[in-house]
Parts: sequence; C-alpha cells; structure tokens
Amino acid sequence: MRIDILTLFPNTVSAVLHESILGRAAKKGILEINCVQIRDFTENRQCQVDDYPYGGGWGCVMMAQPLKSCLDTVLESAVGRKTRVIYLSPQGKTFTQETAKRLRRDYDHLVLVCGHYEGVDERFIEKCVDEELSLGDFVLTGGEIAAMAITDSVCRLVPGVLSDEECYTGESHWDGLLEYPQYTRPDEWEGLDVPEVLRGGDHAKILRWRRKQQLLRTMQKRPDLFEKLSLTDPEDLQLLAEIRKDLQRPVLDQPLSVRQAVPEDVQTLLSIAADARAMLKKYGIDQWQEDYPNARAFLYDIQRGECWLVFHGEEPAGMFTLTTENSPGYDAITDGKWTPDLSFCVLHRLAVSAKYRGTDVAAYLFRSMEEIARSLGVRSIRTDTHKKNRSMKRLLNESGYRYRGNIVVLVEPDHDPARQAFEKILK
Ligand SMILES: C[S@@+](CC[C@H](N)C(=O)[O-])C[C@H]1O[C@@H](n2cnc3c(N)ncnc32)[C@H](O)[C@@H]1O
Repeated sequence: MRIDILTLFPNTVSAVLHESILGRAAKKGILEINCVQIRDFTENRQCQVDDYPYGGGWGCVMMAQPLKSCLDTVLESAVGRKTRVIYLSPQGKTFTQETAKRLRRDYDHLVLVCGHYEGVDERFIEKCVDEELSLGDFVLTGGEIAAMAITDSVCRLVPGVLSDEECYTGESHWDGLLEYPQYTRPDEWEGLDVPEVLRGGDHAKILRWRRKQQLLRTMQKRPDLFEKLSLTDPEDLQLLAEIRKDLQRPVLDQPLSVRQAVPEDVQTLLSIAADARAMLKKYGIDQWQEDYPNARAFLYDIQRGECWLVFHGEEPAGMFTLTTENSPGYDAITDGKWTPDLSFCVLHRLAVSAKYRGTDVAAYLFRSMEEIARSLGVRSIRTDTHKKNRSMKRLLNESGYRYRGNIVVLVEPDHDPARQAFEKILK
C-alpha cells in the first residue's frame, strides 16, 4: 500500500507516521508513506498557496493550481496503480472501519489531500477528487490530523503490518461490535480483580465470555451500533438472552461484606433458604423441600460460630456454613476419593438470595469463605450438591472446585440422598 499525503506540513505528518508500527512496516517495505509539500508546486514567486475568497468573507482559500500540479506529479509516479484521490473535508462522508476496509481492499494507492485555511477551491474538488472523507461532524484547522488517522487505520489492515490478522479482526468495529474488556497483570489492582474466567485457562469459556462482553458493551455504550446488528447465530442469541436476564439483576453499588451470623439472624437465614428452596423446586430437585434447613440447624451452626451471612450494604444477600466437623456420609465416598492427608473443612447450606442471584455476590461469597477456611489453617474445602443442581455445579466449577465422587447424605428423610462430592485444594 502506498499513501501520498499532500500537505503544507509534510514534516509534522511524516514524523508521526514514521514512528512505531507504521514506521517499522515502512522500513520493511510493506508500506510506502510519502508526505508531499504542496507549496513546492506553486507557479508564483512568493510560493503563495492561498488567496482571498471570491464574494468576500473570512480567511483564505487554497488555490487549485498548486494542488493540481502536486497531484499530477504524484500520479505520474504511480502509473499502473489502483489510485483513489481523497480530499479530507468536514463535508465528506464520515470515515469508519468499513471505509478503512474498503480502501484497503479496493486500492493500492491513496492520495490524501489536506486542506487548510477556509478549505480549497471547489473546482479542484470537482475536477480531481474521487471522494471526500470526514473524520466526524466537527471542524479541524487542517486535513493533516484526518489524513494521519485514515492512514493509520487503513495501514494497520495491510498484511504484515500487525503480527496477525486476529490483531484487528477481534477489535472494536470490525464486525459492528465493540471489543471486550482487556486486562493485564497484576491479578488484583487497587482492590479490583481480573475476572476469574480469564485466569482459568479454559479457552472455550474465555471466548464465550468475551463474545458476551462484546454484545453487552455495544448494547450499553453504543446503542446506535447495537440497533444496526442483525444477529442470527444461535450462540449470540443465547448470549443476548443471558444478557437481558443479567440486566434485570441489581447493580452492586454498595460494599459487600461478610460476618458471622447471630441467633437474631435465624429468620434472615430461613428466608434465604426459602429462596433457594423455590429455585430447587423449579428445577425438579427434591432437596431442601421440607423441614430442612430449619431454625434448629441454623442455631446449631451459629452456636459453633460456623454460620456466615453476606451483605450488600445493609441487605442480606447470601449465607453459608463452614464447619470443621466431618459430615456424615463424606467418608463413604464412592466412584472416586477425596485428596488424602489434607486437613479440610466442609461447606454447607450455601445460598444466595433470589434478588442477588447471578450477581458477583456468589463470587464474593466463595472468596470470603475461602479466606475463612485459610484462617482456620485447613488445606482444602469439601462440599456436595445434588447432581441436578446445575447452577451450583457451574458455580463450584468456576470457583475451582473439582468433582471427587458420589456420596449419600441422609439429613432429609424420604428424599433422594445421592449427592456429588466436590473439593478445592487451597493455594
Ligand atoms: C477550517 S477547515 C475548512 C472548513 C470549511 N470552511 C467548511 O466549513 O466546510 C480547513 C481544512 O481542514 C480539514 N478538515 C476540517 N475538518 C475536517 C474534518 N472533520 N474531517 C476531515 N478534514 C477536516 C479540511 O481539509 C479543510 O479544508
């Protein structure tokens, strides 16, 4: 790709465009970027490039002759090329990523004409220009900034300029979407964590998360772009459905906190348990459907100092019990085994209240619970869940818990006692 920029300020433009990525590509011969001084083509002694406007008015207008002579010289040196002459103008069509793709695809030579002052003699535009492009609906002093922006954006699509096509095909505006959020080290900065999924190494999950973020960001930041999308891919439609559901969830605009439950919290704990009961019922799971977990069970946990409540601001949002007591049935694990010789505690009665389901409360709950486990000096956490409890299994999986086998839990008589056992080894 060759780009000739016709300007009154060639040194300034050249200095910018021969830096960094484009500069390196030019050195390798992948790009040729020339900045040509229009003033060198004047035919008057004063090297004057502009004159007063006919009809009066402010400022000066660039004369057609120097522009045309400059352009002719450039075109003579580019015979045989597919050339497009572009005048940068606030009156042109707005330049977009689609324009960049088109220019890169259809031409191997662009001539970018930079106006200055009040603009250029209209007859030059009529006679010599193939199209006018604008950087946006605002007025710049000259076309140089627009020329640099367009050159940069077109050139980075030229093969070999960036290390891989993927460098730009995943970026904002490539397929009508904005890019997903990006993070780099460290894992935690000023109290903000890198999303867990990006640290987990599961490539399929990362791709799915990123696509969802692209859809969400475009919807929220650029509703005008979002409206233009015509999404048909079933995966995208599924992600959109998830996003719409997520958006109905409360925004966590208050600090999350955790504390040990006290006897006065029993009603709160029962109410969170009732939320969980309703959800389990909805999914056809006969766990927690009758008198369990009841006030007696919670009071027992509270007295042992093992029952915890999570709050969003002042509002209860979740609960869990973390006990060092071994649980009945855990030792008789089948189809697998616990990691031997590791001190452990057991996680029970974990639930997030209906209002906070699908928010970061669950992740916070897991983090807090693991910190408590560490402070107890144990090396692992064991837990169990019903095999049909898919959301709990997903949560466990995302939080680093691994399936260890099957157990039988007999706390609820006349109900399916089969549970799947999970374990996380603490780092
Ligand atoms: C001050 S402007 C002239 C504006 C002109 N009098 C008008 O109102 O349409 C001087 C030069 O800056 C460049 N320019 C200004 N705004 C631009 C934009 N939004 N996009 C591209 N080039 C622009 C053009 O090359 C233009 O000739």
